[in-house]
Amino acid sequence: MWTITETTFDPAHQNHRETIFTTGNGYLSTRGAFEEGYPGEQRATFVHGVFDDAPIVFTELANAPDWLPVQVLLDGERFNLADGRLEAYERQLDLSCGLLTRRVRWSSPQGRRAEIVFERFASLANPHLLALRCVVTPDFDGSLSFQAGLNLFMDNEGLAHWRLVDQALKNGAALLRARTRRTGIELALAMRCQAGGEDLPEFWDVRGCPTFAVTLPARRGQPIELVKWVGIATSRDGADAPGLALAALQEVDSFASALERQRQAWAQEWARCDVVVEGDEIAQQALRFSLYHLLIAAPRQDDRVNIGAKSLSGFGYRGHSFWDTETFMLPVFIFTSPHIARNLLNYRYQRLAAARARALAHGFEGAQFPWESADSGEEVTPTWVPHFSDPTRLVRIWTGDIEIHISADIAYAVHLYWKVTGDDDWFIERGAEIILDTAKFFASRAEWNPERQCYEYRDVIGPDEYHEHVDNNFFTNRMAQWNLQTALSVLDWLHRHAPHQASRLIERLDLNAERLEKWKDVIQRMFLPIGDDGLIEQFEGYFQRRDVNLAALEPRSVSAQVLFGIEGCNETQVLKQADVLMLLYLLRSEYSDAILRVNYDYYTPRTDLTYGSSLGPSIQAIAACETGKIEEAYQHFIQAARADLHDVRGNAGDGIHAASAGGIWQATVFGFAGLKVSDEGWTVSPRLPAHWKRLAFRFYYRGEPQCVDLRNER
Ligand code: BGC
Repeated sequence: MWTITETTFDPAHQNHRETIFTTGNGYLSTRGAFEEGYPGEQRATFVHGVFDDAPIVFTELANAPDWLPVQVLLDGERFNLADGRLEAYERQLDLSCGLLTRRVRWSSPQGRRAEIVFERFASLANPHLLALRCVVTPDFDGSLSFQAGLNLFMDNEGLAHWRLVDQALKNGAALLRARTRRTGIELALAMRCQAGGEDLPEFWDVRGCPTFAVTLPARRGQPIELVKWVGIATSRDGADAPGLALAALQEVDSFASALERQRQAWAQEWARCDVVVEGDEIAQQALRFSLYHLLIAAPRQDDRVNIGAKSLSGFGYRGHSFWDTETFMLPVFIFTSPHIARNLLNYRYQRLAAARARALAHGFEGAQFPWESADSGEEVTPTWVPHFSDPTRLVRIWTGDIEIHISADIAYAVHLYWKVTGDDDWFIERGAEIILDTAKFFASRAEWNPERQCYEYRDVIGPDEYHEHVDNNFFTNRMAQWNLQTALSVLDWLHRHAPHQASRLIERLDLNAERLEKWKDVIQRMFLPIGDDGLIEQFEGYFQRRDVNLAALEPRSVSAQVLFGIEGCNETQVLKQADVLMLLYLLRSEYSDAILRVNYDYYTPRTDLTYGSSLGPSIQAIAACETGKIEEAYQHFIQAARADLHDVRGNAGDGIHAASAGGIWQATVFGFAGLKVSDEGWTVSPRLPAHWKRLAFRFYYRGEPQCVDLRNER
């Protein structure tokens, strides 16, 4: 199962489908909008790192000038699915090679019929190259025209980011140069088009929309092929963006050979990453779909960018990155593509200065990473946004102020990368500093409670964002403690294995004896109560909140927050996503099966799994596997699998739920296969759903490829 197929043209769901059918190559992604364009579309190409200032959200990925436009005219009548008669339609994304194909049979209002096939891909072999082919087989004798262009006039839902710098015809290629209004990033597109093997003869020098055109005789049954090549580069890639964009066009010969290189490049990706499930086509498709979307968003050549919560596939969250990357996506890359994981972690390393400035601005020490991060590494969470049900009211967003666990999540990912890859060089040079400096932050942020004689974190938001301004969120307290414990053992390790770097870091971060004593004290006296029965209170006073029987509210189609209102939901015990269970998953070896079980049983019915956060179901699936509830785990897994393919929350049009995509892989590998790694090696403890016949996947452990192939004996 390597394909996603759509068999009807459905304008009502076009935004959702644009997300699903996004093509990309880790440098950029283009949503699956149609070449000819339709009202209501969210046509967009996002290039990693190309941010521009925007009101409210501070900064956003600027929707790049459009490379897709192709108009097809049959005897002068423009091909348009809204007119004429659509006799056959199929769109298919081939996940094995990132090729998007649309095949239609259309009859114009005047009765000119043709089969029209569009294919496009963003080259993985050359990230600066985009390819599009349109083959028209007329069912009439007459004329066929192609108009293939570029379009500068793209916007982000109304906000225009681009100014024209220049456009020209250069050695047969149309060149369009644009610059972002505030950040001054230059982007260059170079386009060549051929029909029937010849360059298109007409060049229309329309301002912002350079276009090639041709009209050819059409003969019934004789296909005519248009190939459109677009080179793309920005000033982030080098001083001469136009030169780089034009250079990408130099290497092209035929669409077939470029496609062959594409297939080879993708084959290498899948050789590392593919997961095979036999006996369950839905799971198989969801896994490959998720991996595909992670792979097209994964920066391979650039370590100055991160992956946004909606990858590069939509306007949602404006390209900002969250803990979604480190906690949900990074494990996939750490295990399958360590080079990508390292790039993503370097992004955080390079933003330590901004994280330090942020801690300082809040009156703390060390490094406090922003809840939402973009180019500069400063906090870019919007402070106020329009209310979801009444846009005339504003809602205060607190996550940027008080959702502090992200710094520990980043430290956790650094540590996981180190443990799984064994990349000591990187860890000594870069990773260790992240763990030490985030620990420094948590020690200074901890508040001493003299009555209780313990350290606390007050006024925070844990992973479950239905509850704001809580004290002693267990996840936050424990992850902070873990960060401090890990920092001490890292320091110890550095003393033994890289004494020079140990001294350098001690000096640079001022890790004097007194400070380290404080760390030990915070570790020892962190407020972390666990009930006699093993039940963990998510935060202080949680058990006093109103208990709601979520099951009794079914059927519903909105989240508990929409149902009860923001404040109303805050007063209940309903969770948006795993919180205590998230912690028990991350620090699994430190808590007994009994503790996991009692917390799973308590929190699962109280979690808004269908309409709450898409980050929830996959973690719930892993926890269910660990408690031996395999069929329940499978139900959670399927919920995660449906998030984007079935648009469960109605917001898939905003972009892929990239954390959920990572969670699906984790649920499979850590949940159903039970993969566990340690310094001694790795083990699996398979607990496959009854109908799975086989589960096979690969990963890297300490630089060596490993292979797991499990058959279901049940
Ligand atoms: C979730 C967060 C997540 C964010 C971005 C929110 O709805 O609660 O955990 O980081 O979305 O995906």
